This record gives sequence, structure tokens and C-alpha cells, in this order.
Amino acid sequence: MSLKENFEKYLLSNLINVESFHPYFNEALNYMLKAGGKRFRPLLLLNVVKAYEPLLLKNSYPIAAAIEFLHTYSLIHDDLPSMDNADLRRGYKTLHKKYDETTAILVGDALNTHSFYLISTAPLSSDVKTKLSYELSYNGGIYGMVLGQAIDCYFENKILDIEKLKFLHIHKTAKLIAASLKMGAIICEKDEDFQNRLYNFGIDLGLLFQIQDDLIDSLEDEKSAGKTTSNDTNKNSFVNLLGVDGAYNEAEKLALKLENELNSFDKNLKESLENLLTEYIFRHRKFMNK
Ligand code: IPE
Ligand code: IPE
Ligand code: MG
Ligand code: MG
Ligand code: MG
Repeated sequence: MSLKENFEKYLLSNLINVESFHPYFNEALNYMLKAGGKRFRPLLLLNVVKAYEPLLLKNSYPIAAAIEFLHTYSLIHDDLPSMDNADLRRGYKTLHKKYDETTAILVGDALNTHSFYLISTAPLSSDVKTKLSYELSYNGGIYGMVLGQAIDCYFENKILDIEKLKFLHIHKTAKLIAASLKMGAIICEKDEDFQNRLYNFGIDLGLLFQIQDDLIDSLEDEKSAGKTTSNDTNKNSFVNLLGVDGAYNEAEKLALKLENELNSFDKNLKESLENLLTEYIFRHRKFMNK
């Protein structure tokens, strides 16, 4: 089985199970986790661990799951009427459409806090787990994703310049992706220089990932994207600021830079990340002829 299949199996056999007399809260907690998704962030972490400490892979699954829980919470809240007001996510009705807004807010809250429960109970050293909690809270919270989302929503209908646009997207998306790679290096107890090198690589990768996501919003229908599209009309998206061609060119520049950097990694890391990254680094090229 591939790493992706193994992780999927782990996640689905470790879903949340809270017993109570609430008629559907437990089902709602698991609904968006079960819906799928690309699992890009956990796979980044697991591939770093696979490169350096394959014996630690099993013990790293709860950490990979923690990142996916936090990311899934961010999507559930992102789709709420007060944010992006989207109806479709991961090929299914968004959580607030399937259940109700109250449930979607609370499930998001629960997945956020539960990600830190997963880290604290993982079979890794306390020292490593403290560093992992720091990284996830730093990059997923007020210094990362939450700040990015606040800026994204506040500046709807207010055009930002390219520097501010990058600040927004680095915080909203790139920092959690960078943290996923760095957290893999932390589990392997790699030195800080190396952790930072991977983190910086992850910032470029995350920025590229968001440009591609903006292209998807503008060029794909909701069936192939599995989520509501044409939804960025009032947003500071790369496509709105640079146009489709401009966004495509920006993506291509970043992709070539990342490809070079990937080739400069040591053999173990390169081999481990290559398949996943080649698939994602050039994701925008499918739009080439549109
Ligand atoms: C979507 O993330 C939101 C962004 C940060 C661009 P993904 O594209 O990773 O969504 P899933 O996890 O595959 O559903
Ligand atoms: C959201 O970005 C990123 C998050 C932190 C959730 P988008 O709003 O572009 O994500 P999609 O397109 O709805 O998946
Ligand atoms: Mg959004
Ligand atoms: Mg959205
Ligand atoms: Mg988007």
C-alpha cells in the first residue's frame, strides 16, 4: 500500500468517537474528514519522515492527522455564510448545508482543539511534541492561517497590491504547508538550519498551491473541483490581480524554482518527495490550453 493509502486507512480507522445523546454531533465531527480531500499536508510531513526515520512513520500518523484536522476545520469555517458562503466541499454538501451553521462552527472548533489533543497523545518524546504544538499553533493560528483568513475576508472588494496580496496568501495557505514539512523534520530531529530550509521551500510551495487554487476557482466547474467555484469574484486572488495568464506565469516561475530546489535536496529526501511534488508543482499546467 502507498503512504497515501496507509494514511487514509489510519485516518478512517481513527475517526472521532464521542458518545452522547446528541442526535448527530459525532457524525458531523467526522463528516468532512470522511469526505476525502487530497491529504497534501499530511503527506508532506510523512514523506519527510519516510526519508530520514522510516521507523518513526507509524508514530507520526497522529501528527499527520493533527495537521489534517486543523486544515479541515479551516475549510469548514471558510465555507460558512459569513466567510466564503460555499455549498460544496470535497464533492459533498458543505457542513453547514448538510447540518446547520451552529454545528459547522462547533465542529470546526472541535477539530481545531482536537488536533492538539492528537499531538499531545502521540507516541513521541515530550520535547518533540512541544515543538510540534508550537509549529502547528504558530502557523495555523494568529501568526499564520487565521491572520490570513482575517485579511482575506476584510479586504473583499478592496484591492491590495502584489506585496500585500502575497502577505495574505503566505499567511492563509503557505505557512501551514511550510509547517507540515518542517514538522516532519522536527520528528526526525534534524537541525534548525535544515528545518528552516524546508520551511522556506514550503512557503514557495504554499504560494504556488494557492495560485493554482485561484486558477481552479476561475477555470474549473464545481463538479471537477469538488467544491464551489467562481467564488473569488470579490477576493484578492492572484487571478483577479494578475489575470489568468499573469497568475499562470507566476505559478510557472515558482514551479521551476521549486523543481530546482527539489533537485538540490539529498537523495533520500528527493526520492521521497518527488512523486508527490511533481504532481503538485505542475498542477497549473493542465490549464495551459484554456
Ligand atoms: C484548499 O485546500 C484550501 C487552500 C488552502 C487552497 P486543499 O486544496 O488542500 O483542499 P483538500 O484538503 O484537498 O480538500
Ligand atoms: C481558504 O482559501 C484557505 C483556508 C485557510 C481555508 P480558499 O477560500 O481559496 O479555499 P477554497 O478555494 O474555498 O478551498
Ligand atoms: Mg476563503
Ligand atoms: Mg473558500
Ligand atoms: Mg480558493
